[in-house]
Amino acid sequence: MHQQTEMDKSSIRKRKESQDGSTGCTLDCQPKVNEPVRATALQREVGLLSGICLIVGTMIGSGIFISPKSVLLYSGAVGPCLLIWAACGVLSTLGALCYAELGTMITKSGGEYTYLNEAFGSLVAYLYTWTTVMVLKPSSFAIITLSFAEYASTPFYAGCTPPLVITKCLSAAAIILISLINCVSVKLASYVQNFFTAAKLFIILVMVVAGMVMLAQGKTETLSDAFDGTSTSVGAIGLAFYNGLWAYDGWNQLNYITEELKDPYKNLPLAILIGIPLVSVCYVMVNISYFTVMTTSELLVSPAVAVTFGERVLFSMSWIVPLFVVFSTFGSANGSCFTAGRLAYVAGREGHIVKILSYISLRRYTPAPALMFNGLLAIFYIIPSDINSLINYFSFAQWAFYCLTALSLIVMRFTRKELHRPVKVPIVIPALMVVVSCYLVLAPIIDKPELEYLYCTIFIFSGLLLYYPFVHRKVKWGRKLMRPITMHLQLLMEVVPPEKVE
Ligand code: ARG
Repeated sequence: MHQQTEMDKSSIRKRKESQDGSTGCTLDCQPKVNEPVRATALQREVGLLSGICLIVGTMIGSGIFISPKSVLLYSGAVGPCLLIWAACGVLSTLGALCYAELGTMITKSGGEYTYLNEAFGSLVAYLYTWTTVMVLKPSSFAIITLSFAEYASTPFYAGCTPPLVITKCLSAAAIILISLINCVSVKLASYVQNFFTAAKLFIILVMVVAGMVMLAQGKTETLSDAFDGTSTSVGAIGLAFYNGLWAYDGWNQLNYITEELKDPYKNLPLAILIGIPLVSVCYVMVNISYFTVMTTSELLVSPAVAVTFGERVLFSMSWIVPLFVVFSTFGSANGSCFTAGRLAYVAGREGHIVKILSYISLRRYTPAPALMFNGLLAIFYIIPSDINSLINYFSFAQWAFYCLTALSLIVMRFTRKELHRPVKVPIVIPALMVVVSCYLVLAPIIDKPELEYLYCTIFIFSGLLLYYPFVHRKVKWGRKLMRPITMHLQLLMEVVPPEKVE
């Protein structure tokens, strides 16, 4: 006989009432008079503006303020450096166009997970979830909050770098705060996102205008002879791309929350088509601005490019640059956290990870367990001293999954002809994505084979050890074991399985 493994809305309410010794609804979960009854599911609350802010606000984090140095270092000269920044923008836009087709064809949340599941089946989707939920999402959350902490604490330690424990504690505090904001309300998280996106666009505008003024004054020395010293190594160009693409990373964010978008058929492609070209133009212009006030060698020795730029151009107002970098990283971390919660939520719903991660807060309509789980893992990832190398090794996994997702679009053109496609991109776009992402996966490995890539691959496939018994065979004892744990956590967090909404 099938035993129920979870409690529904009314049993949670009853249990809570008897625990509180009252008959009144202490959970405040009954709709108030005149308030429409809402299903316990994630609501469609994200409009076009919030959608754009989610993309732009997650993409612009710390990368544009820090990575220009590495892109220049690996590309060797100003000309190829600017070309690589532009190419990264084009690549992100092409990738996002593929996602616009996928997201309007299959309007489920969960991004890559959903498309891989549809095109290649359960196993590939599971391995994607396993890697992303356990490593990629929480570690990028950790990295962004670490940059946040670095910029936020530097002003208090004039002339020296802040102690590591301080940055780590501050970063953990940011993770907790952001996770809480996201657990409390979807609306609040959207407001936070919109506010910080406006802030980062403001500082970028200031930097671009300052750069243009410099250009008009004839400061073009660094931009002349732009191709002298161009790097010719395939591996180095690959690394320059990795650094540029990290600044662009986040272009796929909106596809994680398709079910929460108002009018997804219109707003998903529109937000993508406005957001990503906007970021690309900003990035190229900011880089030109950097070169108007710094020579290449000055840029290469600067510890934080944007801060040096501020000191040279804004004089007594130069403190606004690090302040806005703090805002920018906080906003980007908020966007990352928002979407990470949705991936675990969808994968839990489909039975690919523990069910509790797909539950919704009864009062708040947020995927609280998934958000907390992601936050906990992120805190765990800030403990080791060098998390950046971890991300380097896993960014090859990230690109392998982008490659598979572009491939899934091509495959579904043949296997799922019947699906309605409101947006249909020319097939050369996903084909190009597949080729370029293959290059990005293979170039660094061929250039400099390291054992870490192997460890990373072993980790990805180690997910199979859990897949076979718990997902494929669905062993009985697994459910028996999880039942009391799930119920306890449900009572503790006041969460229930999501209701189906048409
Ligand atoms: N592009 C961001 C930055 O420059 C990082 C985005 C992290 N990626 C993500 N999917 N959360 O800091």
